[in-house]
Amino acid sequence: MKSGEFVNIALPKGRLGEKVYAMFEKAGYACPAILENSRRLTFESGETGVRYFWVKPSDAAIYVERGAADIGVAGKDILLEYKPDVYELLDLGAGKCRMAVAGPKGFKDDPTRPLRAATKFTRIASEYFASRGRDVDLIHLNGSIELAPILGLSDVIVDIVETGKTLKENGLVVLEEFLPISARLISNKASYAFKSVKIKEILAALYNVVNTEKTSDGTKI
Ligand code: PRP
Repeated sequence: MKSGEFVNIALPKGRLGEKVYAMFEKAGYACPAILENSRRLTFESGETGVRYFWVKPSDAAIYVERGAADIGVAGKDILLEYKPDVYELLDLGAGKCRMAVAGPKGFKDDPTRPLRAATKFTRIASEYFASRGRDVDLIHLNGSIELAPILGLSDVIVDIVETGKTLKENGLVVLEEFLPISARLISNKASYAFKSVKIKEILAALYNVVNTEKTSDGTKI
């Protein structure tokens, strides 16, 4: 198979990526070498015509937007925060979590001054507080967001909550959940036109996997 005929797929490295790869495998796009514990980042299967590569989860949308990957998997949080110019093809239902405002137990908001909120997701947070008509002083951090209210850097945080364990271990509680999140299959716009047959075939097969998993196992994947 010539290199240009492959469909290049950006998968998020880590636990979510393994779940998502299992869905591609069930859909008929196996590439067993990918599960070998190696440090290699690219894997291809001549038989099915796909080439996978592991990327940092928050980078998947960039690879797809710029065409380095034809399709990929990115969290809805990343799509809403960075608004990459890509097609969102399918909700894979994996990696379910919520975007939430969290703060110290017993936190009382003082409406006479702007609320100081630390977050990695400044666009999502700013749209959320604007929709509530709440003045906010957003503090952009890149990680360990939970530290901010503990050290007095912020009053609250806006962050992803999955199990709630990170909040609990840092003495914080959810004040409001406002956005359900899950992993989405996305496509580069030009690839969707030029490799349309193959991408639509993958999309249809994944759609079946998602729906089979939904019906056999409630709604959770
Ligand atoms: C996310 C989020 C929380 C944690 C929530 O971090 O920022 O810290 O997961 O999960 P939990 O509710 O199951 O405890 P992530 O692991 O994505 O890493 P990062 O924020 O350090 O990049």
